[in-house]
Amino acid sequence: MTLPALSQDFSAAFAADVRAGLTRRPQKELPSKYLYDEVGSSLFEAITTLPEYGVTRAEERLLTQHAVDIVAQLPAGVTVAELGSGSGRKTRRILEALCRKRPTAYCPIEISRTALQLCRRELGDIERISIVGYERDYLAGLAEVSKRRAENEQLLVLFLGSTIGNFARLAATRFLRDIRAMLKPGDALLLGTDLVKPVDTLLAAYDDPIGVTAAFDLNLLARINRELGGDFPLDAFEHVARFNADARSVEMHLRATRHVTAHVRAADLTVTMAPGETIWTESSHKYLADEVPAIAGDAGFTCRRQWIECEWGFAESLLVVS
Ligand code: AVI
Repeated sequence: MTLPALSQDFSAAFAADVRAGLTRRPQKELPSKYLYDEVGSSLFEAITTLPEYGVTRAEERLLTQHAVDIVAQLPAGVTVAELGSGSGRKTRRILEALCRKRPTAYCPIEISRTALQLCRRELGDIERISIVGYERDYLAGLAEVSKRRAENEQLLVLFLGSTIGNFARLAATRFLRDIRAMLKPGDALLLGTDLVKPVDTLLAAYDDPIGVTAAFDLNLLARINRELGGDFPLDAFEHVARFNADARSVEMHLRATRHVTAHVRAADLTVTMAPGETIWTESSHKYLADEVPAIAGDAGFTCRRQWIECEWGFAESLLVVS
């Protein structure tokens, strides 16, 4: 079962965000959440299989190796709510370990209907699982899962894949605090974070030689053209990945290779760009393993355990509400 999206006017919000971001000075920007339409979600799935992008495989290795140990730290009979399930592939190990003990409810929360469908296809065969998808943004979905739970039902929230890295650092702590506000003592959050690593490794991960990440990035302008009546000339943009040493983040930008004038009908907007000017489309912050317990503490959690994958550099942290 999938609960349909609430009747928000997504395209009005998209148009308003495009207008706000592309009139921002000095740096034009677009919110990275709009990278994930049907095309973007499929391209992201392809990115996770690229040899240069080690994030997903590192987390899969960690979860495969430690699922039983992770589950052993949890109260019996938890309901699992996953923020941004993607295809659900990484989650399989945890769900299998839980379902071996007892029937388990799994609530993936995703704004992308395609991703929810992929997730159901990927995980629906696990014995004793019941899946209820929420087509919502993360916090609205979690609020609903938390509201619907029985008095003595405990929650395990999964926020995997280092999606926390796509938040600015202060926003990441705020977001964890918002999650914490919906949880009760005994609930837990399993948080995946990509760790700091050499800059050339990071840049290759976000600017692969066959151009899948470039297509993922450019699809954002293509999506504006499709959904908001835009006329961005896609051939006038190139994808760029940059390391921001102060923020410890990899930034993705779309750089104009010539003078561009484009219109976005639904946003009542004309955009001009000089050659070399960029639109900042995403940041992916990288963490030090020690930082995670500290931000968790600031958000009202205690870090009970951390599992580290050293080949690529990835941490899974179990944060509990006491
Ligand atoms: C979803 N998120 C964790 C990815 C990342 O690594 O920041 C998004 C991504 N962007 C380009 N490649 C992957």
